[in-house]
Amino acid sequence: MFLAREEPPARPELTVVTGAQVSERGRPEEGPEPEPAPIVLLLSGPNLNLLGQRQPEIYGRDSLADHIAKATLAAAEYGLGVRHVQSNYEGALVDAVHEARGEVAAIVINPGALTHYSWSLHDALAAFDGPIVELHLSNPAGREAWRQTSVVAPVATGVIAGFGGEGYRLAIEAVASLLRSRR
Ligand code: DQA
Repeated sequence: MFLAREEPPARPELTVVTGAQVSERGRPEEGPEPEPAPIVLLLSGPNLNLLGQRQPEIYGRDSLADHIAKATLAAAEYGLGVRHVQSNYEGALVDAVHEARGEVAAIVINPGALTHYSWSLHDALAAFDGPIVELHLSNPAGREAWRQTSVVAPVATGVIAGFGGEGYRLAIEAVASLLRSRR
């Protein structure tokens, strides 16, 4: 006797769609390309590549890579991407600010010692449209007299200083809030 074997029912393709992509009839539709995440440029100036080894009693034991990883995680929570540039050369940082124009949503900059005398960085930042957060691990206002002047602060939206590595997360939170209020 011939027994017909029942074919298993075809498995429907499983498609994950966001609420906005489901039509009224519940059918997935071609949605628009999702917007790319706005980018925050993290700029690190001279000697910050030595974080973790350089005067840990002042700047802590975490490396720059640790700080950037923390900032990147914090940024992701706000739907932001991070691009990081570290250089010991003033001109390379100026170039990075120029390249950021029209490309990135905001800048978080720890200019290192350039904070205290780099008018070229000041001018480059003045030509950037989005929010700018000046960030320091230490609190330069409580240190040597020459560190108590910042030529970057006048063109920054605000300054976060003295909170050690926690400052990276605070800077991202500040940027996220500033970008939200611009929308
Ligand atoms: C610094 C403070 C600057 O005065 C110093 O030159 C640095 C680090 C900070 O993060 O505390 O390199 O920007």
